[in-house]
This record gives sequence, structure tokens and C-alpha cells, in this order.
Amino acid sequence: MRTQIVAGNWKMNKTFQEADDLINDIVEFINNNDIGNTEVIICPPAVYLELASDSASETDLFVGAQNVSEHESGAYTGEISAAMLESMKIDYCIIGHSERRKYFHETNEVLAEKINRAIEHSLRPVFCCGELLPEREAGKHFDIVKTQLTESLFHLKEDDFEDVVIAYEPVWAIGTGVTATSDQAQEMHAYIRSLIKERYNEDAAENTTILYGGSCNPKNAKELFANKDVDGGLIGGASLVAEDFIKIIKSF
Ligand code: 13P
Repeated sequence: MRTQIVAGNWKMNKTFQEADDLINDIVEFINNNDIGNTEVIICPPAVYLELASDSASETDLFVGAQNVSEHESGAYTGEISAAMLESMKIDYCIIGHSERRKYFHETNEVLAEKINRAIEHSLRPVFCCGELLPEREAGKHFDIVKTQLTESLFHLKEDDFEDVVIAYEPVWAIGTGVTATSDQAQEMHAYIRSLIKERYNEDAAENTTILYGGSCNPKNAKELFANKDVDGGLIGGASLVAEDFIKIIKSF
């Protein structure tokens, strides 16, 4: 049985006090409710990771970073290494988000190195893949996702691949209010699972958690999560409001 996950990617939002309030609201919800098999992850900006990880240590909450350096250590001003995150007991790390690909020019090759650093330091990668709108319109979305997975992820050995979570985030759905339809999400998730089966085996395909991301909100989460191959969501905007994020957690 694969893990169901609701993960919040806060991106570059929240002051310290706002972050503290949001973390406390989520922790209070988790402490007072039965969330069953659902794993809840928050990915705040790096400066709040310690705050989040201190709060998470007392409850069933997991913490992820939004990025990690492809380098082990050294003269890379402003960067954060996998070893640092490991030493802070951070559980997960988002790798390959489309905003990192677009604004910070992260290539599939660089992302493969980030995946390696994460695995070497016991960070579970949440690997993001997904196509641009023109790519979908040209019918190339399956090929794009296949290339992203092949070039950045499928070099992993089967044992290491077990730690990977995949997030399908069609770029045209991120922050736009346009969600992929339930059928579009299911179709791509099933395709991703078939690629995992082809590269590894049936067990690996069945056990990998595949999240959907892109304008997922309290209104559409239930329908999206009801799909056989959609194991939860990577939530942007709606993870910044405790009430909305909590409604999404309750959508399973
Ligand atoms: P939105 O939920 O704001 O569309 O963002 C999705 C996302 O990019 C999560 O990583």
C-alpha cells in the first residue's frame, strides 16, 4: 500500500510570525484529528526549516526543503547542501520544480546531481515533472515527462528509487487557477507508473507515491485524489492558508 501525501510548497512566502502561526495551526489540526494513513509535509522557505522541524518533531508532520545544491560543499555562496539539511533532520526535498527550471535554469542533468546528493544524505526527493502548455498542445506531454524522468531520476538503483516521491505538475496549471482535469491527471499518473514498471518492476511502480500539483484546492482535491493513480497533492497557493490546506488534507 503506497503512502498518501499532502505536501505544501510555500514557495517564497510568509514572514517569520506568519510562518510560525501557520505551522502551529497545522500542528494543532494534526494533534487533534485522525488523519489516517495520510502523510502531511510542509516545505517552508529554508530560513524557517528549523522552526518547522522543531514543531514537527513532536507530532506527525514531515518537513521538506524547496531546493538543495547539486554540490556537496564549498564556495557556493547562498546555497544549501544536502548534508546541512540532513543534519537538521529534514525529511524531504523538492527537486526539479518548474520555477527552479525556469528562473534558475536547472537542467535535467543538474537535477540528476541534486537527486544524487539528496539520496546520499537520506533526504527523500519529491521530484517534479510536467510539461509546458505549448508542449501539451503539440501532444508532446508524455515525451517531455518521460525525458525528465529518464534523465534525472531513472539512473537510480532500485533500492534508492524506493525513497522517491514524484509530483506531476503541468506547468500550465501552476498558480493559474486552471487545474488539470481529473482524467488528464489520471492519464499522466498511470503513464508515469508504467514508465517506472518498465524501468524497475511492478512492485516499484505500485509502491511509488505520485502526487498531482497545479491549482489544487479544497474544491477540486477530492475529485483529483479519487483517481486510482493519484496519491495526493503538492499544493502551492492553497497551502498558505491553514483552513484550505486542512480541507485538502481531509479530502482523502
Ligand atoms: P499552485 O497550487 O499555487 O498552483 O502551485 C502548485 C505548485 O507549484 C506546487 O509545487
